[in-house]
Amino acid sequence: MIPYTKHTISKSDINAVAKILNGRFLTQGSAVSEFESLIKSYSETRYAVVLNSGTSALHCAVFAAGVNEDDEVITTPFSFVATANCILYERAKPVFADIDYSSGLLDPIAVESKINSKTKAVITVDYAGHPSFLKELKFLSKKHGLTLINDACHSLGAEYMGRRIGGQADITVFSFHPAKAITTAEGGAIVTNSRKFYERALLFRNHGITKDPKNFVDKSSKIDPWYFEMQELGYNYRLSDVQSALGISQIKRIDNLIKARRSIAEYYTEKLDKDPRFVLPRERKGCKSAWHLYSLRLADASIDKRKLFKEFKYANIFPQVHFIPIHTHPYYQNRFGYKFGDFPKTESFYREEISVPLYPSLRKKEVDEVINILKKIV
Ligand SMILES: Cc1ncc(COP(=O)(O)O)c(C=O)c1O
Repeated sequence: MIPYTKHTISKSDINAVAKILNGRFLTQGSAVSEFESLIKSYSETRYAVVLNSGTSALHCAVFAAGVNEDDEVITTPFSFVATANCILYERAKPVFADIDYSSGLLDPIAVESKINSKTKAVITVDYAGHPSFLKELKFLSKKHGLTLINDACHSLGAEYMGRRIGGQADITVFSFHPAKAITTAEGGAIVTNSRKFYERALLFRNHGITKDPKNFVDKSSKIDPWYFEMQELGYNYRLSDVQSALGISQIKRIDNLIKARRSIAEYYTEKLDKDPRFVLPRERKGCKSAWHLYSLRLADASIDKRKLFKEFKYANIFPQVHFIPIHTHPYYQNRFGYKFGDFPKTESFYREEISVPLYPSLRKKEVDEVINILKKIV
């Protein structure tokens, strides 16, 4: 069977996890901060907070940005639902702006047209591992006093203008789901260069609780050794030491994992490049993708994707489609009145898109099988 994605677990990963299982702390131990140190140095940022999913990390980012009821947050409809749901978790309103059709990335011009006095933040998505239009979005955010959040759940290890994805936005969010560049089973992180966002994220991850006496509101209780304060409504979004140990072991191998992804992506491109029936993903100037997905489009939108998927299934190959536009899900249609037709570029991209298998252990022989079926049906 050839899935669209597959995690990579080594002997050293298993040993690292076993060591924690045999040790004193399964959670709230030192593996968590060790993993955070590695994440922040890898992403070239000052602060990192790891959490128990990419979704909780997105929620944390929205909270850290101070998004509240009555605020609006502009984002892309072309993503996994978590990108917009995290805005709803803080009772704010997601406002969608369409994508740039050639890349699938949130279009800064479309964003600008949606900014008003209620806008508090922008969440962009590094779709398929390709960096967003970060310079343009940062410029807009600064101009209008907004917080820029990068949902970089696909792009840990990508590069933008010579730097790893991390410090370009005010807050950057990663996921360590098994489909992603590195995994902790479930897991995620936020990275930032802002001490304020970092401290709010720490509170939020742990029920809104602080145990640091210098931050207590009640100064008289400082001396009670059992005392702590809940200062915000937070959650238990902690990542365990078991998962952090896996993350530590995985991030030490990330360069090889990304290299393997890149080599498969380049092989797809080499084999499909001259074929006018396919529109291939391209790296923009100054950007290096993390190659989370090889997301190609069918040049002829009238081709029946269902038939193609059926044929793949006969061959035991399971591609995917990324993404069903968020605004077309029943919840968003019912609650906000969105409908098909509202974001034409997103909808066209969705109709034409296929994510063919891409993961580090995929062999060239298997890529050839995928390509043969693609060409036969299309
Ligand atoms: C763009 C994007 N953002 C957020 C998430 C949520 O991440 P997680 O599954 O770690 O909660 C995903 C998951 O696939 C995603 O693709």
